[in-house]
Amino acid sequence: MPRFLLIYASTHGHTAKIATRIAAALEKDGATVDLHQLSGGGDETTPHDYDAVIVGASIHAGHHQRELVEWAECHHTALGVIPSAFFTVCLTVADDTEESRAATRGYLDDFVEATGWTPGRSATFAGALQYREYDFATRLFVRLLMQSKHYPTDTSRDHDFTEWDAVERWAHELASLLTPAVAQA
Ligand SMILES: Cc1cc2nc3c(=O)[nH]c(=O)nc-3n(C[C@H](O)[C@H](O)[C@H](O)COP(=O)(O)O)c2cc1C
Repeated sequence: MPRFLLIYASTHGHTAKIATRIAAALEKDGATVDLHQLSGGGDETTPHDYDAVIVGASIHAGHHQRELVEWAECHHTALGVIPSAFFTVCLTVADDTEESRAATRGYLDDFVEATGWTPGRSATFAGALQYREYDFATRLFVRLLMQSKHYPTDTSRDHDFTEWDAVERWAHELASLLTPAVAQA
């Protein structure tokens, strides 16, 4: 039975939901999944004990979570050898313009440059506006920002842009692609 590490960072919980959905799909396909939210500096989780590793993070103010970038940089050699994949969660994916597509590509390129790890497979998923999770200042700031970009500004509820079917499809693809040797044994 292939053993996956699914390690992620999530500031307001949406990447956690996506990671949980990916883990459930992998388990449905017969994998064992260690789902692990990075806790910051000193996290001792390593890729070495696993058949495959999936890494996920979200974008805030143009950057992935620092602790996740540092973890991937620290383990980039192992990640380059073990079957692995990366997903990023951000709002620009929800926006069908060349400018947003360039921004999304930029987030991935920056991650590769910062970590020294070029994931064999990567995916970008549209995230959510989780107004109810934000503190007062963040809610105000995000609302103002979203107003200028024509995103929803109703702060009494959350707004989810994730294509959940695409998340599940990607997970099922990974189940067969990342562990072909194990799956055929
Ligand atoms: C303060 C803040 C800044 C953000 N900055 C960006 C950004 O620069 N680019 C982007 O595409 N999305 C941005 N987002 C959207 C997040 O990536 C999105 O809300 C995502 O679902 C967050 O996932 P998380 O809850 O796992 O952290 C921002 C969200 C917040 C709250």
